[in-house]
Amino acid sequence: MAIQPYEDLLNKLEADQSVTPKNREALNDFLTYETPGSCLYTKWTNPPIIESGKGNKVTDVDGREYIDCITGMSSMNIGHGDERVAQVMQEQYMKLSHWFDFPTPERLKLVKRLCEITPGDFDKRVWLGLSGADAIDAILRLVRVHTGKSQIISFYGGYHGQNIGTMSLTTKAGMHRWYSPVPPADNGVNRFPYPYAYRCAYNTTSEAESAKAAVEAIDRILMSGENTMANYAAGINNVAAIIVEPMQCSAGYIKPHNDFLRRLRELADKHGILLVFDEIQTGMGRTGKMWGSEHSGVVPDLMAVGKALGGGVPMSAVVGRAEIFEKLGPGMSSNTYAGYALGCAVANKVLDIFEEDNLVERCAQVGEYMAGVLAEYFEKHPLVGSYDQTGVFLGIEYVKDRDTKEPALQETIVLCDALRDAGLLAQRNGYYGNRMSFIPPINITRDDVDEMFRILDEVTTKVEEQFSIGKPEVTSEVEAQVAAEHQPELVQSSM
Ligand SMILES: Cc1ncc(COP(=O)(O)O)c(C=O)c1O
Repeated sequence: MAIQPYEDLLNKLEADQSVTPKNREALNDFLTYETPGSCLYTKWTNPPIIESGKGNKVTDVDGREYIDCITGMSSMNIGHGDERVAQVMQEQYMKLSHWFDFPTPERLKLVKRLCEITPGDFDKRVWLGLSGADAIDAILRLVRVHTGKSQIISFYGGYHGQNIGTMSLTTKAGMHRWYSPVPPADNGVNRFPYPYAYRCAYNTTSEAESAKAAVEAIDRILMSGENTMANYAAGINNVAAIIVEPMQCSAGYIKPHNDFLRRLRELADKHGILLVFDEIQTGMGRTGKMWGSEHSGVVPDLMAVGKALGGGVPMSAVVGRAEIFEKLGPGMSSNTYAGYALGCAVANKVLDIFEEDNLVERCAQVGEYMAGVLAEYFEKHPLVGSYDQTGVFLGIEYVKDRDTKEPALQETIVLCDALRDAGLLAQRNGYYGNRMSFIPPINITRDDVDEMFRILDEVTTKVEEQFSIGKPEVTSEVEAQVAAEHQPELVQSSM
């Protein structure tokens, strides 16, 4: 017998007449042969099954086209189906796909380039992996082996991967509760609130104050006798590294004040702690600069890179100060496919495309244009509580009321489904499930931005009407109906 939430999902699929035939068959297969646990079912009630993609558009198995504002969670920054990548893949595959595990020319070319294009005017080294979690896992090992210290500082809402090691750092949406009885394996991780100014844990709405408070709290705790990391009275500090997303991504695309990283750098230097940036989503041009941390001008000791580096094939890397890598003996941190020739050739081509197409500059320009369109959208729609945007990194927070800031969870669930129905795929997320992130390829045009916002504007208007947002009374009947229809997503949203 099917167990929850499978049964719920199967029932919903059966009940939803709008699901087209091949999508229905594929979803049935998915629910029969895979597990919903391997997909983010928080996006839509019945996700379209995507078969192909070109540029910023994807097409489902029934031939319906959508604007892609998810891009494999910021993996397809150069867009889908770039012919230049396809050609390199074909050539490199015929030449050499993989050779375990010694360097190949493409691999050496890539590591040199990564050293050149990452911030920091010091000797660097690179470690290559396949997934983001691979890279963060390697970092957990590297910083501890290098410093001889066990403790790590990370932030609530951070997403750093889902394997047993990285799950200790990842606190996004309370996923831990879903994994019980598998506890986080790493109990040397100490978590602090992130400067999410709109709902700041330190009770300020000023972005600069939120950044200041977030860093000062860590300092105060470290300097006190009451913590698991340091005891300065006894001359002990066991903290190896601070690991942080320069802007929080999966938690809802939240952009802290630039002072945050500057203050973190000062804190790290004061306490002799390594500073590590997880640029797996904020990197590769997404924010209008090559690396998200460049907005604050802060240089980390180590940086994790992934997703868009591979332009659609698995590739990740750790780049940083050479000395941090020095204690790793031969084979101490390797895996079979790491640094495979095919992936390195593709990553090199992706970096070529960044140069040839001037992608970072283009992203910054289209981001400036988007800022204007977004300001109008905010003015017009009371459902929008706030937003964070830079380049084509965009998170929008929906509220029932701008004064009370009550999260508009049900409204956002409906909005997310309605956007899909209107031909735009975007991801719902946020600390309270009431944010949407829009992360199209970074090479979109102004026309693409207009098309995106035309749909978003229309759909938002409809949702506001449906829930009487901006009107004195919100109809509880509509809320009750949505609650009944969307039970699994509401449960998931409280993850
Ligand atoms: C910031 C960040 N770090 C790490 C990861 C983990 O990457 P992967 O899913 O490739 O393991 C992700 C994935 O979304 C991420 O966004």
